[in-house]
Amino acid sequence: MLYDDIQEAAGVIRAAGAPPPRAGLILGTGLGGLAAEIEPAAVLPYETIPHFPSSTVESHAGRLIAGTLRGLPVAAMDGRFHFYEGYSMQQITFPVRVMRALGAELLIVTNAAGGMNPHYRLGDVVVLDDQINLMGDNPLRGINDDRLGPRFPDMSEPFDRESIELAMDQALALAIPAHRGVFVAVAGPNLETRAEYRMLRGMGADVVGMSTVPETIVAKHAGLRTLAFSIVTDICLPDALEPANIDQILKVAAIGGERLARLIPALLERWK
Ligand code: HPA
Repeated sequence: MLYDDIQEAAGVIRAAGAPPPRAGLILGTGLGGLAAEIEPAAVLPYETIPHFPSSTVESHAGRLIAGTLRGLPVAAMDGRFHFYEGYSMQQITFPVRVMRALGAELLIVTNAAGGMNPHYRLGDVVVLDDQINLMGDNPLRGINDDRLGPRFPDMSEPFDRESIELAMDQALALAIPAHRGVFVAVAGPNLETRAEYRMLRGMGADVVGMSTVPETIVAKHAGLRTLAFSIVTDICLPDALEPANIDQILKVAAIGGERLARLIPALLERWK
């Protein structure tokens, strides 16, 4: 049973000395810098947590860091699981369930994304305002366990409005370029064709990535408030598209990661 697996994983994390988190963090590709800001109480490699997905060949093993960030108890996933690695949607989102079981009220998710809004620049922060699921699957597919959440969760506001406002205020105060935007998730792992970027922009998305949407759906199902940030790591204007350069994407993610490592702690300090 999923429910029992969640309780078992949470039990092991608690026993390792993790304080009950107020916020859960999922740190995206190249965006792990924030982990260094956490004063750790317990660090658990994923393979030591029961029912956590085991790493595939190409995914780097990650770890859960539990501790305090500016005095707020947090649990952070340093390294996430992606759909394109072959995990199921349920596997990808299992850690979100566990964070909820540990007591988290807020989930903060970060990712690297392609910017399709022509006003966006490399390294800009996008505070997600809404999302589109184009991954072709759903983590809630299957029998619903009412102890975990409702069969048909509302999605009229996937991201917490107050936290979005607070994030935008903090970005302004720290002089970090930030926008509110719509995120669309695709399965990957290939980057998009020109025709696909044109379609995704046309359907109303500002940024595109290969993660976050499953976690947000499960967070909503579990009754967590969610806040998510994209870093614009490549400019995806269909009529002026350059070949994707993964090294460049990772370099820009590092700049964005530094920005999020300033923004998120400042935000958590003010979050109640
Ligand atoms: N598309 C999809 N995922 C991404 C991109 C992109 O252009 N950039 C970073 N992640």
